[in-house]
Amino acid sequence: MSELIVSIDELINRLRALYRDIDCAVACVSGGVDSTTSAVLAKKALGDKVYPVFINTGFMRMNEGARVREALKGILDLEIYDFSEEIISRIEGLEDAEEKRIAFRDAFYMSVKKIAEEKKCGWIVQGTIKADVVETIGKIKTQHNVLTDELLKRYGLKVIEPVIDLYKHEVRALAKQLGLPKWLAERQPFPGPGLLVRTVGKLYREKLELVRKATAIVEERLNGRGYSQYFPAIWEHDILDKGVMGDIEYLVFKVKATGVIDGRRIYGHPVMVRRYHQVTDIYTFYRQFNSENYPHVLLQLREKEDGEFVIAIRIVKTEDYMVAEVPRIDIYKELKELAEELLSLPKIKAIAFDVTPKPPATIEYE
Ligand code: XMP
Repeated sequence: MSELIVSIDELINRLRALYRDIDCAVACVSGGVDSTTSAVLAKKALGDKVYPVFINTGFMRMNEGARVREALKGILDLEIYDFSEEIISRIEGLEDAEEKRIAFRDAFYMSVKKIAEEKKCGWIVQGTIKADVVETIGKIKTQHNVLTDELLKRYGLKVIEPVIDLYKHEVRALAKQLGLPKWLAERQPFPGPGLLVRTVGKLYREKLELVRKATAIVEERLNGRGYSQYFPAIWEHDILDKGVMGDIEYLVFKVKATGVIDGRRIYGHPVMVRRYHQVTDIYTFYRQFNSENYPHVLLQLREKEDGEFVIAIRIVKTEDYMVAEVPRIDIYKELKELAEELLSLPKIKAIAFDVTPKPPATIEYE
């Protein structure tokens, strides 16, 4: 973990100098390190003018609001707002990844706007970091929290972003220096649009609830193992194509997922290897198969006769989240029980393990 390049006092003084005269600000806290650190800094700089809130978007993990409020007691006094119905119903039925992200962003900021109006505040505080801006400007993907002047005008909000010049590892260092708990400073990132980017393809509630349950199972089993990110994603087990390469039998799914090659965004079909003899072959297979059209290659772990959905398990190690490795994991020993438990969820047909690094895959699927 690298050293902090700015001092806490300097950051707080800068915030105070810039925003001391504002009416007040709603600080959106998701319970992740970026937004929590931002809210704590804003609170230290502006005191009672800052109202920390947790918004249930409908795409959060199970019981996340209550858990985060409890865990942050004594650090931030969080008020919980539930906009899940409004936000989900706005996105329901949409299929394209970028369209879903944009619909999420609009619905999310309309909700934030309502809270700001209720509090009579013209400002919000949020935890945008440098990587969010870099990826949005590079058109890799539209990060929901990167607000241009035009968007700010549309939503009628003004924004305070205390950690926008920092990368994730710098925010973690800052959180530690602020005395925030270790679990928070080291917590795995959770995307702003949350489970939306892990409900791959068309969004509907049954699929969303399944991935929410799967997330609880995966986190329970993999917490504390030192991985940077570990989570499931879900999509329909609908096949576009199938084939054989050497002794490897594979399926190509109809759904599309995101990847990134040479700083460019790609959007193609996940490929799942169904049968193989040597596990080591799998790790070279994706290199042969992977191309612009196939950003994610997965290995099937378990399968059932019936069912509609695939659950993908994604585990990565990374320093900067711009590139990421998939750790070598014994899929027979370490992932077998996890796959078994996930397969017991309703309507699940197959469980697969994603073996693709970033690039060419992205960490998330959308
Ligand atoms: P990708 O999928 O681009 O993810 O390789 C890189 C890191 O960013 C997180 N991520 C997001 N965070 N809003 C966020 O706040 C988003 O829309 C978003 N998309 C990806 C991802 O979890 C990973 O840590």
